[in-house]
Amino acid sequence: MGQADRQGARRRREFGTPDWIVLPHSTFRELGAQTVLDAMVERLGLPLILKPDQGGSALGAQVVRDAADLPAAMVGCFAYGDTVLAEQYIEGTEVAVTVVEGADGPRALPAVEIVPESGIYDYTARYTAGLTDFFTPARLEADAEKAVGELAVGAHRLLGLRDISRTDAIVAADGSVHFLEVNCSPGLTETSTVPMALEAAGTSLGAVFGELVERATARAD
Ligand SMILES: Nc1ncnc2c1ncn2[C@@H]1O[C@H](COP(=O)(O)OP(=O)(O)O)[C@@H](O)[C@H]1O
Ligand SMILES: [Mg+2]
Repeated sequence: MGQADRQGARRRREFGTPDWIVLPHSTFRELGAQTVLDAMVERLGLPLILKPDQGGSALGAQVVRDAADLPAAMVGCFAYGDTVLAEQYIEGTEVAVTVVEGADGPRALPAVEIVPESGIYDYTARYTAGLTDFFTPARLEADAEKAVGELAVGAHRLLGLRDISRTDAIVAADGSVHFLEVNCSPGLTETSTVPMALEAAGTSLGAVFGELVERATARAD
């Protein structure tokens, strides 16, 4: 393996995403619904998760454990948009990792572990206080904690983000880290994970956003 290949392999591993397929609504007309549904299950296996390609807060996201439930779940997901992102479902520990930029560049704050009572971190579990347990720092092995921090800083840098971001990821039982997405305007409500990470890092929303505003003002001068 040449150096470029090794670097490529490392990058793929660091930014490993669950296997995925993007399905515009027109695919079903062009190829026939049953062909597409069969191909999805063959490629991704079960369980899989469907998400509209737009929006957020898990609106429209559905976990499909049984192939018989797939047609109705697809119809439900298309109600939220014209394109569905289907992904292999990863069982594991869900974490949210905040990255904040300071004078020394971007750094990851302690990962916040998300444990929804219902098992699914859906809209209700996100915005209803008490329906989800959070552990900060996350109950991860030291290696996995380090890996999710590097993943979040790497994603922040790779995407050219600025000031603050939050990366969502799942750590599977074997310790492998699966990147879900980066949020460049992360939630700041009382049930959001960014304020929890800031508190665990010994600071606060007010202090950090005050610094970010100062940096932004200096940039604009
Ligand atoms: N591939 C996956 N495997 C397991 N759970 C997933 C997967 N993708 C998403 N989820 C779950 O669905 C939620 C919403 O998905 P996400 O991709 O983060 O979209 P959103 O922009 O709506 O937050 C996640 O917080 C996680 O609980
Ligand atoms: Mg998310």
